[in-house]
Amino acid sequence: MNRNDYDSIIERAKEIQKEWRTVPAPKRGEVIRVFGNHLRQDIEKIGTAIMKDAKKIHAEAIGEVQEAIDMCDFAVGLSRQLYGLTIQSERPEHKLQEVYNPLGVVGVITAFNFPCAVWAWNHCIAMVCGNSVVWKGSPKAKNVTDSCKEAWDSAISECFFPDTKFKDLLQLVDGDKTEAEWMADDSRINLLSATGSTAMGKALAPRVSARMGKALYELGGNNGMIVSKHANIDLAVRGIVFGAVGTAGQRCTTLRRLIVHESKYDELMSKLKPAYASLPVGDNFKEETLVGPLINQESADQMQSALQQAKDKGYTVHGGEVVEGCTVRPAIVEATEQCDLVKTETFAPILYVLKYTKLEEAINIHNAVPQGLSSCIFTDSVQEAETFTSAVGSDCGIVNINIGPSGAEIGGAFGGEKDTGGGRESGSDAWKQYMRRSTVTINYGKSLPLAQGIKFGD
Ligand code: UN1
Repeated sequence: MNRNDYDSIIERAKEIQKEWRTVPAPKRGEVIRVFGNHLRQDIEKIGTAIMKDAKKIHAEAIGEVQEAIDMCDFAVGLSRQLYGLTIQSERPEHKLQEVYNPLGVVGVITAFNFPCAVWAWNHCIAMVCGNSVVWKGSPKAKNVTDSCKEAWDSAISECFFPDTKFKDLLQLVDGDKTEAEWMADDSRINLLSATGSTAMGKALAPRVSARMGKALYELGGNNGMIVSKHANIDLAVRGIVFGAVGTAGQRCTTLRRLIVHESKYDELMSKLKPAYASLPVGDNFKEETLVGPLINQESADQMQSALQQAKDKGYTVHGGEVVEGCTVRPAIVEATEQCDLVKTETFAPILYVLKYTKLEEAINIHNAVPQGLSSCIFTDSVQEAETFTSAVGSDCGIVNINIGPSGAEIGGAFGGEKDTGGGRESGSDAWKQYMRRSTVTINYGKSLPLAQGIKFGD
């Protein structure tokens, strides 16, 4: 988009936030409650836009809008719970408090694969915290961005008609890399929340840091599952199939690496291969389809190139054929070691399978990738499960027991470590990043004692 238009958007975002910040937080929550109702009304409309743009199947597209609705419900309650602490002072007749105030303008950059839900994680929290939002959705998901904006505008009309100024609490930046860079460089944006590839995050992060800006990154994942000798294999197979082929392998939380105890390897593979072979792959608008097309030809080509590299290394590849265009069958690759190829996130349904003997070895393999988003173990052993969640276990931001790595609920904080970027979004206390925390010290006495017992001229 044109730079002048961008500048006007940011100036308007600053201006409207100045009014919004004075609206009491529970009243801001009331607007989000109404917005949630508009999402409920528009669920099929936004879902269809997700099916068109992101090529998701109906159930997953609707699930994504549901995730945004869940965020509204969460944010409404949160709007009455933006709590700060009171802290005992070391000085007589003094009190310490934490006060949370709005940050200002929140910039949100989202990817094609969750074009509605990830925006909603940010938007709903940013709104109840008293901020304005400037949203650059993926250029591949314009229908979704526009339909979300329409739902927001209708909610504002319902709440404030005939006054429509608060529609501008959400403004759209239409663009791609250049506009993302403008946002990263822009000190008028008080928090930048960016979701996308690690390469994208690494390009933006130095720009945000150069201006000492705040940022939340939600970048690539290379999520693993350990299947132990104590696993319920049928449960694991269900978890693997949804985790690895859901959204055609294009979630940041997609299962990409399977680390299987050697004693269970043959049994697991004998159940997994037929499950993969019978997957309905095709047109995402058809009811029976479970795996729709990849987002574009470039993705399909990247998948074929990764599979070719696997074959060149002598790994056995099951599936992965091109059905037509960018519609592909999900692939299982029996890898003999965790080489660079396995450590790379190819945003497509490729599942690398590795063997292990001891749990410690499995955890080492699991953690030996650059990314640190989501992780899981299938085991009925309490010792193994607890070890995996402990200091010597998974190094990821999301750790699951007897559940695949994808499909997180909004109530927890979402995000990961290392190349995933370290950000936490959606639930728990992620809201604190969308507010400015002031430590307030109040002297209600008539003398001025200094901290640390310092005597200064008395
Ligand atoms: C993403 O792929 O960017 O946990 C987000 C999940 C979804 C969100 C995925 N709730 O798989």
